[in-house]
Parts: sequence; C-alpha cells; structure tokens
Amino acid sequence: MTALLEVRDLSVVFDGFRAIDGVDFTVDSGELRFLIGPNGAGKTTLIDIITGLTKPTTGTVVFDGNSLAGKREHERVRLGIGRTFQTSVVFEDLTVLENLDLAASFRRPLWSLLRRRKGVIAAVEQALETTGLADLAPRKAGVLSHGQRQWLEIGMLIAQGPRLLLLDEPVAGMSSDERARTGELLTSIAKDHTVIVIEHDMEFLRRYASQVTVLHEGKVLIEGSVDEVRADPRVQEVYLGRAREEAAHDAVT
Ligand SMILES: Nc1ncnc2c1ncn2[C@@H]1O[C@H](COP(=O)(O)OP(=O)(O)OP(=O)(O)O)[C@@H](O)[C@H]1O
Ligand SMILES: [Mg+2]
Repeated sequence: MTALLEVRDLSVVFDGFRAIDGVDFTVDSGELRFLIGPNGAGKTTLIDIITGLTKPTTGTVVFDGNSLAGKREHERVRLGIGRTFQTSVVFEDLTVLENLDLAASFRRPLWSLLRRRKGVIAAVEQALETTGLADLAPRKAGVLSHGQRQWLEIGMLIAQGPRLLLLDEPVAGMSSDERARTGELLTSIAKDHTVIVIEHDMEFLRRYASQVTVLHEGKVLIEGSVDEVRADPRVQEVYLGRAREEAAHDAVT
C-alpha cells in the first residue's frame, strides 16, 4: 500500500493553547481508519487542518504526493478531499435528489458543461444506491430522520467523487439500528475510497474498525488494531478518567 495522506510534525496553537502538538499521521490508500479520543483531543482540528479550514502553526500535510501548503479549501476539494461536519449541512427545502445533484455538480469544471449532466446523473445514482436512499429521492431533506440525514450527507460527499473522505462523528445521536446501518455503509464505501472516521464509541469500533489512531491532548497516544488499542492501559485511563469525571460532574449537578 502507498500513503495517500501524510501528516508530519503538525502543530496548531490557538491563543497559546496547543490543540495539535507534534502529530505524525499516515493513512494508506484504501484504508478505513478510525480516529478516536476524548472531547477536546484535537480530532476535529486535525480534520480542519487537512481540509484547509484551519492553518497549522508548524508541520506539513501531503496528499497523494503533493504538499497542501497554501492550498485553499476548494482547491483541496478539487484534489479529492471531502468532509462532513459535526453538524449537518443539507438543504432542508430541497429534495434528497436535488441535494445530491447539487453536490455532484459542485466539483465539475465548467468546460465539461456539455458532458456534465451525464456524469452528474451517474454520480447521483451511485450515491443513492450506496446510501440506500433511492426510495427517499423525491422527499424534502427537512423531513428526514437524523440517521437518514447523515446518510444523505455522506451521499453528497460520495457524489463529488472524492478519494479521501473525512467523516466527523457520523453516528453521533443515532439509534442502534442506524449505527449498524452506518457501520455497513462505511464498510461498503471503504471498498473504493480511503476513509477517516472520527468516533468516540468503543462498541462501534469493536464492530467496524480495523486500524485505529487515538488522539489525546493534541498528540497521538497510540496507533494499532482495535484489540491493541483497547488493551492499552493509557487508552483505558483516558476513557475511564473521562467516565469518572462525568460521574463526579453528574453527582454534583
Ligand atoms: N478555533 C479555535 N480557537 C480556539 N480554540 C479552539 C479552536 N478550535 C478548537 N479549539 C480548542 O482545541 C481543542 C481541540 O478541539 P477539537 O474540536 O479539535 O476537539 P475534538 O477532539 O474534536 O473534541 P470533540 O470530541 O468534543 O468533538 C479544544 O480544547 C478546543 O476548545
Ligand atoms: Mg470534534
């Protein structure tokens, strides 16, 4: 396998606070990588840097052999880096189909205008099929359930034909049925894309993850298989420590 994404010695400082602190992170082409860590670990910030939303203080990000330094967000999208956000960004008054259609048109260059419709339609059909949303194509996005909305967002991403998908907590707030379906969806997308998924939930990881990177206080704590990561005492401390803090907080409120 070859590296599709290479992050080297990355740091970002916000008002004197190191949200990312010397991170090295490599993802090979075709991987489904899980990125986990407690609240505030720097997971979203890392994705923000890769997509160009946040500028790193030091370090480099190389995608498919090209440095991303100085590249704007839309340029990175054009190179094939797509992301979802922790909060949903679908257009509620448009139908599922229209949302996908819009997303699919987005990355295509103007010179392909004449051939454009054909490519867009194929990409939209593919996205509908992959996400299992075909039956809901004519429905307004505003009436979708929380889970269906997340799948639509993932579909909008696929419709843009990215090579690397960055998904920020796609199963947050989902029912256990929806989680299972999302796990299957990620597995299926990973067959022909490279995917990085942010998730907290160990149970979800146990079922769907193979390689896991754990971030803690802006640093990579450990990287390895789900079993290796779960067995690591530092990971247990980070997660149990958080559980203890939450229990203490609940006790006083
Ligand atoms: N734009 C910003 N300005 C200042 N501080 C920030 C900014 N963005 C993030 N931070 C801080 O950086 C740290 C890492 O935040 P980040 O959102 O990356 O964590 P996370 O791992 O995604 O957490 P969560 O699980 O809660 O989503 C936090 O302490 C956060 O408050
Ligand atoms: Mg986050």
